[in-house]
Amino acid sequence: MGHVTIADSTPVKLCVVIVGLPARGKSFISQKIVRYLSWLSIPTESFNCAANLLKILDKLNTTSNELFTSDVSNINDDLLVENRKQTLNQILKWFDNIDVCGVAIYDGINGTRDERNAIEKSLKEQNIDTVFLESYCDDETIIKSNITDIESTSPEYSTSKSMEDTFKSVSNKIHFYNNAYQSLSTTDEADLSFIKLINFSAQIVLNHIDSYLKSRIVYYIMNLHVKNRYIWLSRHGESQYNLEGKIGGDAKLSPRGEKYSVKLVELVNKYIPNHDKLEVWTSTLKRTQQTAQFLPFPQKQWKALDELDAGSCDGLTYEEIAVKFPEDFKARDDNKFEYRYPGGESYRDVITRLEPIIMALENQENVLVITHQAVLRCIYAYFMNVHQEESPWMSIPLHTLIRLEIKAYGTQVTRIKADIPAVSTYKEKGTSKLGESKNSINVMSGSVISGITDKVIK
Ligand code: G3H
Repeated sequence: MGHVTIADSTPVKLCVVIVGLPARGKSFISQKIVRYLSWLSIPTESFNCAANLLKILDKLNTTSNELFTSDVSNINDDLLVENRKQTLNQILKWFDNIDVCGVAIYDGINGTRDERNAIEKSLKEQNIDTVFLESYCDDETIIKSNITDIESTSPEYSTSKSMEDTFKSVSNKIHFYNNAYQSLSTTDEADLSFIKLINFSAQIVLNHIDSYLKSRIVYYIMNLHVKNRYIWLSRHGESQYNLEGKIGGDAKLSPRGEKYSVKLVELVNKYIPNHDKLEVWTSTLKRTQQTAQFLPFPQKQWKALDELDAGSCDGLTYEEIAVKFPEDFKARDDNKFEYRYPGGESYRDVITRLEPIIMALENQENVLVITHQAVLRCIYAYFMNVHQEESPWMSIPLHTLIRLEIKAYGTQVTRIKADIPAVSTYKEKGTSKLGESKNSINVMSGSVISGITDKVIK
């Protein structure tokens, strides 16, 4: 279960029960927690009450739109009770298959004390720990922007004819739930374990955060923000070691790598909006710092951004590793995520040390990260939700500026090619030869732009 360790064999089962009126960013928060914990190899799944309600309504030939838009007093309480029961049952069933550690997110309104007590009781009976997470929001600007996101992403409003229509439906739904809504309070629910976010993370109230896993979630949420923004990524320019097919080391850039460091200034000026406010992060290794050498912006060097440590294989080519350490070579191909070089690191180790980087990236905007192949794969996997078995095999080309456009409900990728040739450092499974993958699952998603012609290539 990743690097969360426990002393006995009792499974760690935690249910994060989301609380909040409609349009409070509940599903956004749920999805982010799922992504973060899954990236740390903790099995995590979100169960969406509204999605279950849609299924129930579908059978009754009606829509949630009609349900909440019609005379609210006609809403059938039994239907909502059935909806809650189904969601809870799904969660309990999911926990049946968790034998070490798992986190379920109950993504629903859960707006009354009675409902919350009932949920906690049912979970406790199955030895599942609970933490409530309320998104309380009275800032109209945040609510409006959430409704705009809902309109473009939620299946619940896919039949809405216009934005005005969606606003009306969501407002009716808010009105319906608001009547009985009871916000979490340290006086009325003093015994409950809860996190209360007020206007996203402007203020946070914590009550009985009594486990390691809960405090990790708190720390993560504190760093989140909802603003749409870009994160910029690049590998270092081609290095002397890259030319020789060697891994690791602390080599300088090749002449083509030097060219990339010059070109990068042009790409940054052309493609990065507000680049005057840009901050550049590099590793502590020469090749990333040389790549950043002409960028006239504040620079930070992070040890955490250093390349995966190849231990006793540092400075060798893959062909040399295959001959000198055939068992290791095979073991790494068999399970690249878990394999740890003797005296070095595994991809899992890299993820562990990257956690502070992810927190800082969630917290900031206008950052260009110049780092290494394995590290970029791990950062990319977090933002793009790439499974841990696939991420070590991602092809991340040299001499390419990568733009991640982070939006509330997803991330879009654009690769801007500097059009400066470079060797491939990509090694397929089962070979010691280098060469770009023809296998499409290993290629990054999104579009590709030529940094020379500005034209979209793909
Ligand atoms: O060893 C350095 C490489 O950048 C990591 O690549 O995990 O595909 O061997 P690899």
